Amino acid sequence: MPTCPIHRNPITAAESPAVGIAIEGLSKNFGPLQALKNVSFAVEPGEIFVLMGPSGSGKSVLLKHIVGLEAASAGRVLIDGHDAATEGTLEKVRIALVFQAGALFNSISVYDNLALYPREHQLGTEAEIKEKVMRALQILSLENAAQKFPSELSGGMKKRVAIARALVMEPQLMLYDEPTSELDPVMSATISEIIATLKDEYHVTTIVVSHDRELALGIADRIGILMGGELVFLGPPSEVATSKDPRIADFFHPKIDLKKPRFKSLET
Ligand SMILES: Nc1ncnc2c1ncn2[C@@H]1O[C@H](COP(=O)(O)OP(=O)(O)OP(=O)(O)O)[C@@H](O)[C@H]1O
Ligand SMILES: [Mg+2]
Repeated sequence: MPTCPIHRNPITAAESPAVGIAIEGLSKNFGPLQALKNVSFAVEPGEIFVLMGPSGSGKSVLLKHIVGLEAASAGRVLIDGHDAATEGTLEKVRIALVFQAGALFNSISVYDNLALYPREHQLGTEAEIKEKVMRALQILSLENAAQKFPSELSGGMKKRVAIARALVMEPQLMLYDEPTSELDPVMSATISEIIATLKDEYHVTTIVVSHDRELALGIADRIGILMGGELVFLGPPSEVATSKDPRIADFFHPKIDLKKPRFKSLET
């Protein structure tokens, strides 16, 4: 296994307790398309929940409901018991979303990408912000990348910068959308270790959207699987292998069958 690049150097004392999330009967329609169908599950404070499912099954749409970027057609999202759609709820919780593509600003340095949020929210003097930023970079072994621009970084480094930027927010809830996509297996394992270690050290509630089997089986406390907008599996990693549902087995261990190729039945 690769070594985890996290230094044991906490970014803050965890003054802000992790939050619990409850998804209650969540449905979302885009015109005739039902992207989410009556989805319900809860994520406990400090838990790592990995949300899996095939492409187009509604994973990102669900994440967007948690951060208020989409409004539910029915049902609701509760954050520590408060409806996320009610004014004021999201302002009370520090939620960090690590986007799939990193969503870094290319025209400014790595340092300035990390300093953006604390500067905008006036979370301290420039010297205090520098301390937070440099500590986050150190935690992700990125000290030497501070003055680089995102275009000068590898894919794995960009993912780590995106995580470091989230960490500067001192989040109570960390959401990751496909944190290991497009990475080699060793870097994927490293990112998985970082996610698990951050959760352990900061007790931050963590929801990871991912196709990555190794990540899910390696770090999840529980896994949820969406298919066609429906939650078809909810349980600990140990129950995935024993699931009797053929869709779960096929999702985890798809067999290539040239006699019945899947692409013939893909939706357009
Ligand atoms: N704003 C939107 N307007 C219309 N349809 C949308 C919108 N956002 C998502 N969809 C549709 O909702 C479905 C679920 O999309 P979503 O992005 O959640 O998939 P996903 O599970 O994250 O897939 P992937 O693994 O490829 O990222 C898709 O059919 C998508 O086309
Ligand atoms: Mg997605």
